[in-house]
Amino acid sequence: MSQPTLGFLGAGKMATALARGFLKAGLAAPGSLVASDPFPAARDAFAAATGGRIVESNPAVAADADVLFVAVKPDQVGAVLSGLRPHLHPARHLVISIAAGVPLSRLEAEAPGIRCIRVMPNTPALVGASASAYACGAGVTAADAELAERLFGSVGIALPVKESLLDAVTGLSGSGPAYGFLMIEALADGGVAAGLPREVAQKLAAQTLLGAAAMVLETGQHPGALKDAVCSPGGTTIEAMHVLERGGVRGSLISAVRAAAEKAKNLGRS
Ligand SMILES: NC(=O)c1ccc[n+]([C@@H]2O[C@H](COP(=O)([O-])OP(=O)(O)OC[C@H]3O[C@@H](n4cnc5c(N)ncnc54)[C@H](OP(=O)(O)O)[C@@H]3O)[C@@H](O)[C@H]2O)c1
Repeated sequence: MSQPTLGFLGAGKMATALARGFLKAGLAAPGSLVASDPFPAARDAFAAATGGRIVESNPAVAADADVLFVAVKPDQVGAVLSGLRPHLHPARHLVISIAAGVPLSRLEAEAPGIRCIRVMPNTPALVGASASAYACGAGVTAADAELAERLFGSVGIALPVKESLLDAVTGLSGSGPAYGFLMIEALADGGVAAGLPREVAQKLAAQTLLGAAAMVLETGQHPGALKDAVCSPGGTTIEAMHVLERGGVRGSLISAVRAAAEKAKNLGRS
């Protein structure tokens, strides 16, 4: 499959963000994108953002596409796949589900004999900066996994994990954008309290977190070492560090990720 046709079952926010990323990265052309969605506004937005074709039904997507992205809400996945069953062909189709909490065993039960990959992306896919992890089901080939990694890598990074770790991924990177937004808001509040105009404070806060993240990713250095390098003896930063440690920020973040991972595990059971 050099450039497979990509089909989207559900043309909502994530489907549109992913399709745009694939186009931008040159992994798809508008003519190789097809989607269906019962919601007219979603169909229009997908078509306007990607130039992809909208078809009337999910079976029509399966008729046109090799890779099928399941991009509906988790409670709609069963109905979508079972309705599609007669139209799925093991030799042709690869199913990639981004539905949170829906296990591979469920996908494989609804689409027997079809190769399935489960991906947990996050919302920064909307701006090409997603952190995704994926797990492969039975019969998935190295080429399938490589394709998934290339596709999701085009809107950020994509890392393979064991399926049992996807709840931990949900707790860290799935929910993580919210942790970042909270930190940006709080840092901006601090800037305002110290006298900065709100707009300036918010931009500085967001760019500072972006810069810190880029340094970790680009240098590969331990974040603790990078932190130490900013803390000059008797300086301002170590003073702030003491306040953060006294406030239990480190422990709160660890507990937040664990709580979200636990919640994801329980949702997957229900
Ligand atoms: N957004 C995120 O941050 C995020 C992150 C990771 C994973 N995900 C996962 O991505 C999936 C999609 O999320 P989203 O935010 O893109 O949701 P969304 O914007 O609501 O998109 C889902 C779309 O699928 C449509 N749909 C419903 N039933 C359908 C059917 N039978 N056939 C075809 N289309 C159907 C929905 O239409 P109606 O509105 O008419 O129902 C909606 O337009 C979810 O499973 C979510 O867990 C999302």
